[in-house]
Amino acid sequence: MPIRETTVKVHRDLPPTRMWTIGGSFPGPTLQTDIAKGMIVEWENRLPSRHIFSIDHALHGAEKSLPEVRAVVHLHGGRTPAASDGYPEDWVVPGKSPSNSQTCYYPSLQHAATLFYHDHTMGINRLNTYAGMIGFCILRDPREDSLALPTGEYNIPLLICDRMLRTDGQLDYPVSEKPGEVWVPEVFGDAILANGKLLPYLDVEPTLYRFRVMNGANGRFFRFSLSNKAGFHQIGSDQGLLSAPVPVKRIVMAPAERADILIDFSSMAGQSVQLISDSFTIMQFRIAQSPSPATSKPAPAIPATLHKVERIAESTAVRTRRLTLDEVMDPVQRSMGMLLNNTPWHAPITEKPVLNSIEIWELVNLTDDSHPIHLHLVRFQILDRRPFDTFEYQSKGILHFFGLAQPPAPEESGWKDTVRADPAMVTRIIIPFQGYPGRYVWHCHILEHEDNEMMRPFEVLPLGS
Ligand code: C2O
Ligand code: CU
Ligand code: CU
Repeated sequence: MPIRETTVKVHRDLPPTRMWTIGGSFPGPTLQTDIAKGMIVEWENRLPSRHIFSIDHALHGAEKSLPEVRAVVHLHGGRTPAASDGYPEDWVVPGKSPSNSQTCYYPSLQHAATLFYHDHTMGINRLNTYAGMIGFCILRDPREDSLALPTGEYNIPLLICDRMLRTDGQLDYPVSEKPGEVWVPEVFGDAILANGKLLPYLDVEPTLYRFRVMNGANGRFFRFSLSNKAGFHQIGSDQGLLSAPVPVKRIVMAPAERADILIDFSSMAGQSVQLISDSFTIMQFRIAQSPSPATSKPAPAIPATLHKVERIAESTAVRTRRLTLDEVMDPVQRSMGMLLNNTPWHAPITEKPVLNSIEIWELVNLTDDSHPIHLHLVRFQILDRRPFDTFEYQSKGILHFFGLAQPPAPEESGWKDTVRADPAMVTRIIIPFQGYPGRYVWHCHILEHEDNEMMRPFEVLPLGS
């Protein structure tokens, strides 16, 4: 998979957009494999030697002494041995083969799910990913065929992200007004792209479709719904199918979250309907008058149950870790970045779960924002979220709750790898550390936060530790 610069036609009326892609397209080519089959990918850095955006050399891991253009690819949601996981410091630079590439082994010994690959380079991951280095990877399980969910052209991955586009069609990435320190805490573009296109349409038949939706934005949260207010079903989340379809009218998605949804267009023949998020129109579905003759049968039924998700009992956890999410302010109350547990990236590793043990992590959010927290290697379940007094916690270190713990909604009750930790809430997740021993990372998936210290390593200790 060559990582290279290319041009992408984002809209008919815009000049081509210069992007940095994995595999030559944006999003990159969708990788597909059956679970347990495994996959070997060589990611090769063929980028130019100057970066497309301004680098903030004050950020840890992006110092002036380092090469400007670096890349390392991570498979998000993959149960991957540490050496192939794309550790943020394991970047490679463009140059002669093979020193410009990394060969990664993905055993895929996990459940079927919609994964994605993206850049993870220390200190510049927000810029590389924004430039286009992201794509889908779908793990299939033949045992799910019996559910008769829509397949082939009725099963569509949909990567939604926002960008700032200049009138000449080129990507814009904002910089701060601080000289020499260009980092900004958040980026929100007003061009919303669906599979790399601005305001596209999709011709569909009046039948059932499966969309694997993923929020590929750096920082924007989406609240997706249909313009005609029709309901649809969510059948999966980050790490695969839910136990049963959940009827929904709107889905909220933070960066890096995935939602598998079923939309039944059979009652909308001849109409056009838009996918929207707040005041944004994202794309249009043009529904044909009748199904194609080849498939002219009624829309397949939505299965009543999908995949049994056993809830993990809290009592099986061997350890509970309380971890804060913190914002650091300068004297005039400008954000200087976020931290996990008030600890910078380069401090010694403090989270060392033992392979196959189960832990509860309590994410105590002391900031004013919701942060999508992601752990590499593992999948987990959300236990609950509970409001608390942030002032009392910051001044006295006491956790004083304001209300009852709220269990996750049905669509959040499956397996996850990214969880929204909402402000002034304690979000508890329960995590079986299955897979492989070694050094991994956990971080906020708002990429501006991740690049500026809202990321920490953790180490899975071998069995018997
Ligand atoms: Cu989506 Cu650390 O990654
Ligand atoms: Cu990941
Ligand atoms: Cu964050």
